[in-house]
Amino acid sequence: MYPINDYLKDSVRELQGEKAFAYLARAREVAERRGIKVVSFGIGQPDLPTFENIVNAAKTALDARFTGYTETEGIRELREAIADYLNYRYHAGVRPDEVIVTTGTKTAIFLAIASYVRPGDEVIIPDPTYPAYPELTKFFGGKPIYVPMRFNQDRGFTLDLEAVENSITQRTRAIVINNPHNPTGAVFRPDEVSKLLEMAKDHRLLVIVDEIYDNFVYEDNAFKGVLELEPEWRRYIIYTNGFSKTFSMTGWRLGYLVASREVIEPLKKLAANTYSCPPSIAQKAGVEALRSEASWKASKAMIELFRRRRDVMYEELRKIPGIEVWKSTGAFYMYPRIKGVLDRLGMDVEQFTDWLLENHGVVVLPGTAFSETHMGKEYVRLSFALDEALIKEGIERIRKAVTK
Ligand SMILES: Cc1ncc(COP(=O)(O)O)c(C=O)c1O
Repeated sequence: MYPINDYLKDSVRELQGEKAFAYLARAREVAERRGIKVVSFGIGQPDLPTFENIVNAAKTALDARFTGYTETEGIRELREAIADYLNYRYHAGVRPDEVIVTTGTKTAIFLAIASYVRPGDEVIIPDPTYPAYPELTKFFGGKPIYVPMRFNQDRGFTLDLEAVENSITQRTRAIVINNPHNPTGAVFRPDEVSKLLEMAKDHRLLVIVDEIYDNFVYEDNAFKGVLELEPEWRRYIIYTNGFSKTFSMTGWRLGYLVASREVIEPLKKLAANTYSCPPSIAQKAGVEALRSEASWKASKAMIELFRRRRDVMYEELRKIPGIEVWKSTGAFYMYPRIKGVLDRLGMDVEQFTDWLLENHGVVVLPGTAFSETHMGKEYVRLSFALDEALIKEGIERIRKAVTK
């Protein structure tokens, strides 16, 4: 045997997987081994199946044997539907040839970071964060520069713009902004996002935007997309979004990237050499998702349901002493600070989440899955994309466990 294991690059070895996926497997394992029902607040996906009309469109595509490769950038029909959505919603003036359809938003993020981050480049990332941005940055030899967000139980999580500005150096290449935000459930104020964009422009930086939760906003007028806030988006923004959350299509692997033509052309070549094209059937399903009233209606109903679940989760969590919780305004997560509980139990956050799963059958993700600083060590993430009764049961179990 060759020791091919030894030949592996350090950059691959050092990658962190997504902890949310690891906990999903562990929850199953604990449920089987102990024969108990595990309540999981872990994984970030809607619990509803993909909407009927979308599934039917995929069946029709299959019956028509629409099963071959497509254009790398995605079928024109879908790029037109994406442009129309963005233009209707954000008055952005996006043209179909400014869109690449990808195998999930994650691949769009990959294309952006792979194409821009050179060894030694610094990428500014609000902390805590969805882990793909820093992991891919490191993979390509760059350095994530974490800027802790501010947390206040009344105002929630906000960007620390001063700290962002202070962390810009000669080596800064890009700023990442994910809005609405995973894991905190924050929706950043439009004026703050505008200021961040101005700052990036002043320093000639790239801005990588991830608005995958753009429809999961629970307060009127709280959210404005960057394509609307910045008419000059083509100059310096790479925009990503996708179908996973809005239409409950996580397994279909469908997302997209929007940028100027000059950027799209080379990125298309990277896509062609990486995955050839997004799944053909999923693309037809994506057209139906964006074009039909039925899927938007179903999506809106789902988000209304999530709003009620969020309210329930908040009301239940705030009853627990030692937990500081803010009612999130976007995405489908809550990110309570549990320092009081950890101090009382004498555990660190990972010991706490392990203990909760093993002994009380509840999955919550440790903040350390999203942050290496105090923004991770003192927090846990809970998804409220699950049944209301389960939310109540799970939080009741947590309450009993920590107040014993
Ligand atoms: C902020 C954020 N971006 C991107 C993704 C990846 O989504 P996709 O399924 O489209 O790859 C997720 C999924 O959890 C996410 O939370």
